[in-house]
Amino acid sequence: MHKNILVTGGAGYIGSHVSVRLHEEGYNPIILDNFSNSEKSVLAGLKNITGKDFKCYEGDILDPSILTKIFSENEIEGVIHFAAKKAVGESVEKPLEYYKNNVSGLVTVLEAMSQYGCENLVFSSSCTVYGQPDELPVTEQSPKKPANSPYGNTKQIGEEIIEDTVKSGAMLKSIALRYFNPIGAHSSSEIGELPLGVPNNLVPFITQTAAGLRDKLTVFGSDYDTPDGTCIRDYIHVMDLADAHVQTIKYLENHTESSFFDVINIGTGRGNTVLEAIHSFEKVTGQNLNYEIGPRRAGDVEKVYAQVDKSEKLLNWKTKYSLEDSMRDSWNWQMRLSRKS
Ligand code: NAD
Ligand code: WQD
Repeated sequence: MHKNILVTGGAGYIGSHVSVRLHEEGYNPIILDNFSNSEKSVLAGLKNITGKDFKCYEGDILDPSILTKIFSENEIEGVIHFAAKKAVGESVEKPLEYYKNNVSGLVTVLEAMSQYGCENLVFSSSCTVYGQPDELPVTEQSPKKPANSPYGNTKQIGEEIIEDTVKSGAMLKSIALRYFNPIGAHSSSEIGELPLGVPNNLVPFITQTAAGLRDKLTVFGSDYDTPDGTCIRDYIHVMDLADAHVQTIKYLENHTESSFFDVINIGTGRGNTVLEAIHSFEKVTGQNLNYEIGPRRAGDVEKVYAQVDKSEKLLNWKTKYSLEDSMRDSWNWQMRLSRKS
């Protein structure tokens, strides 16, 4: 009997790739999504990859009745909680929407898990909790810095809510995965990232520029204290990230302590500059990208990349994909999108 894993936000960018990996590893993903930042066509993509119609509930994590329905209709072994709003800039303009969706939403999910005795939770956190770390690579012990956006604050608060719940003696085993910069797409190009409007993130901006949807890419600052002056990030292929989630579910299942909370960095351990990312894209696609150097973007950290010892040891997991693999898959996905529109 396949174990059911509730994947909130499972139609989204990361959740859809995780659903594929769960299926491949013998789990049965059950998706809950309100499609506020995804499209129903994702479900067709999932079917094309796996040959299976995943059970999907259309609804909002803020609505306890949909969670009651899901938990009463299915025996849920664990929850991977992706559903959240994620646009940093928008969160500055609409903080209450972010606190409601990301913080109240998590509370609603935790209440439903408690009510139905579901003990395993993977929470989507972010390297944004570290701000600009004092030391690199950044370890899980590095202190959290004051969040520089309401979005970032929702991730810090989310981790604290889970930790407090565990401290209260609740039967809850939970890991917050602090993702670095997820990029790439499934190699089939059936699923990938679907940015709405003008992308904020680097890689969708690169691929949309190369596809002719944007005139040029602006590199935000070239006067940072890095080898080529541009910011450094840890770009991780979304399928490596997906694999880490499956390993985390297995870790929670096998963990003997009945109640605990921990945090794990999920990155590659490598830092790349913006210019290296651009050149990697140019190399794998054979295209010259139209870009120019512009001013710094407010709020950007100079450099951040993960120390991966903890993830490799606890999860028995290692990244498999290179930056070039990610760029190739992002580009193939962009071409697929361009053909569809
Ligand atoms: P995404 O927007 O593609 O996916 C989130 C999904 O959740 C979407 O399908 C959306 O429709 C759904 N959703 C949002 N609010 C909901 C609600 N109230 N009820 C039901 N469904 C809802 O985002 P993603 O990139 O896949 O990110 C997934 C998670 O990972 C988020 O929690 C995000 O904060 C976190 N994260 C993302 C990144 C990144 O760069 N993509 C980095 C670090 C952390
Ligand atoms: C990467 C690099 C930019 C666009 C964001 C969130 C973070 C996390 C991941 C969720 C930076 C540069 C970008 C462009 C550029 N998400 N850049 N020109 O800022 O590291 O992180 O996504 O938790 O919370 O803040 O990612 O892709 O926006 O930027 O030069 O048009 O690319 O300055 O150095 P970021 P990003």
